[in-house]
Amino acid sequence: MSDNIRKILVTSALPYANGPIHLGHLVEYIQTDIWVRFQKLMGHECIYICADDAHGTPIMLKARAENIAAEALIEQFKQEHQQDFAGFQVAFDNYHSTHSEENRELATYIYRQLNEKGHIIRRTIEQAYDPKAEMFLPDRFIKGECPNCGAADQYGDSCEVCGATYAPTDLKNAVSVVSGSAPVKRESEHLFFKLQDFESMLREWTAKHVQPEIANKLADWFEAGLQNWDISRDAPYFGFEIPDYPGKYLYVWLDAPVGYMASFKHYCNQKNNHLDFNAYWDADSDTELYHFIGKDIAYFHTLFWPAMLEGAGFRKPTGVFCHGFLTVNGQKMSKSRGTFVTAATYLKHLNPEYYRYYIAAKLGSGVEDIDLNLEDFVARVNSDLVGKVVNIASRCAGFIHKLSGGTLADHLAEPNLYRQFVTAADPIASHFEARRFSHAVREIMALADLANQYINEQQPWVVAKETGQNTRVQEICTQGLNLFRLLILYLKPILPGIATASENFLNISQLSWESKDTPLLNHQINKFKPLLTRIEQEKVNAMIEDSKESLNVSTKTTDKPATNNPIEATIGIDDFMKIDLRIAKILKAEQVEGADKLLQLTLDLGDETRNVFTGIKTAYDPASLEGRLTVAVANLAPRKMKFGVSEGMVLAAGPGDKELFILSPDSGAQPGMRVK
Ligand code: 2FM
Ligand code: ZN
Repeated sequence: MSDNIRKILVTSALPYANGPIHLGHLVEYIQTDIWVRFQKLMGHECIYICADDAHGTPIMLKARAENIAAEALIEQFKQEHQQDFAGFQVAFDNYHSTHSEENRELATYIYRQLNEKGHIIRRTIEQAYDPKAEMFLPDRFIKGECPNCGAADQYGDSCEVCGATYAPTDLKNAVSVVSGSAPVKRESEHLFFKLQDFESMLREWTAKHVQPEIANKLADWFEAGLQNWDISRDAPYFGFEIPDYPGKYLYVWLDAPVGYMASFKHYCNQKNNHLDFNAYWDADSDTELYHFIGKDIAYFHTLFWPAMLEGAGFRKPTGVFCHGFLTVNGQKMSKSRGTFVTAATYLKHLNPEYYRYYIAAKLGSGVEDIDLNLEDFVARVNSDLVGKVVNIASRCAGFIHKLSGGTLADHLAEPNLYRQFVTAADPIASHFEARRFSHAVREIMALADLANQYINEQQPWVVAKETGQNTRVQEICTQGLNLFRLLILYLKPILPGIATASENFLNISQLSWESKDTPLLNHQINKFKPLLTRIEQEKVNAMIEDSKESLNVSTKTTDKPATNNPIEATIGIDDFMKIDLRIAKILKAEQVEGADKLLQLTLDLGDETRNVFTGIKTAYDPASLEGRLTVAVANLAPRKMKFGVSEGMVLAAGPGDKELFILSPDSGAQPGMRVK
């Protein structure tokens, strides 16, 4: 066996350190984690590395807006991200940050190597500059009218109305999102990485190391011609200053993938270098390196990254595995529909293993988007995990305790059926290896059906009651529990928590792949405790409601040229002016039956009354609110909620629940007055 132990280094994309982890991100971390756990289960040396992606303009501006140091902001998000990942049982071997000494050293080393070898050139370019904020503006920080269709309020790189792409300098009546002032054109010298130097290597490498769908996309990119890549940014910038080039910084996308190496280096250092960094990264390394990423960042990982590695004398990835995006109920995740669910909100309501299972059941090896259909989610988890898998254990365990003192029989009633389960291990393993998790799940559930069929046919409850043949009941249930044990072994990469609980119940040490060949016989098991309960639809509904209320969650903020990610690190004055804030008088405040947090308010807005549901129930006695003045958002689109339509929002401050304070104007203000 030891000869076959593979040394594998695995990464997931590094999340930006300025926004929460949400269910969309988790598709990738769950996919990677399952694959890594599978490799470990097979006895391979597999190391799972990740880090926060901490640099770039959006992070710098968000820290400024929050009036804290960028270092403090990224530290907060790093803690939060690690907590979210742990909550979903995503088990990194190391989690680091791109804002680290290891990354500074490696990124500047790679830059120097590329420079020394002549792969970097200097060019002066003209860019949009915000004279008020005194900074160059990334495309996504400029808004204006689309040069193609005239739509207002479009980002500097593409129009969300007509889909046109253009240069920010083409926008009409452009404004800086940072200061609201009109950008001017200004020249600046930048460094460019000559991607073309690597074209023949890239053509050869990509032919073998990417999925077919990505290879097709690459053919287009090669056809269009590889462009020089701008790898520098002007101060002010949160990142690494370029050696010997004061005032210029490495672009976040240069140091981000180096973060994979840096996190691994940090891990090696923690292990006192018992793990050899060079053995994994030298050009002639015989270890394997895999990157799991979303299809939107394939360009960076299949062109720039292998070219950088090659140019700096390192090994290239063994594989880059792209996945598709997550939709919820067939549509893009949306805050107003409550389907933009953060990891933390999910965990408040539901068990992470439900989601891990559902994602696994849907994931294939390709780049298709996957849909979280909430009804199907409830039905599938309840039917498969609770109805088919856990049920076997709960049906058999009671009899073993009641009739056989908790001891399994010393032989199997149906060795052939057990063999059939063992034989399925190879195809299941091949599916896991090839990331065909949906196929693996299908095979495992077909086995679960067989196990249930066996128990249904043998009817141990009838044998126990009618014939009193306790040994026969013990035999049937021993068979059932042995089949259950193999199902749990096969599901272990997907459901680590249930696997551990099952190991405790079966009173065995950690299930290993080899252990499948030997059934568990003449063995004392522990009392059965429910391993998983059914998902209740109400909890899913509550999670969606909760996500509707957390409107202050920012979406993914990126320095990547736009695909379709909305970015709002800061808003300009124009955006602010769109919010119609009015003085409102609370005419009525009432309890809402069945709602934990909501009160129903009737507001007088001067010339009209509005019905608003607001989450201040735990902070206020409704009677105390009646007659008070407050501030309301008058032009919020009406939202249909479980209890009725909410036609606005009142402003409140505070950490939440019991500590919430609604805002009140000074005396003299009248309902309907506009807040300016
Ligand atoms: O797209 C993103 O979310 C990036 N933060 C991913 C970086 S992956 C790697 F290159 F660091
Ligand atoms: Zn347009």
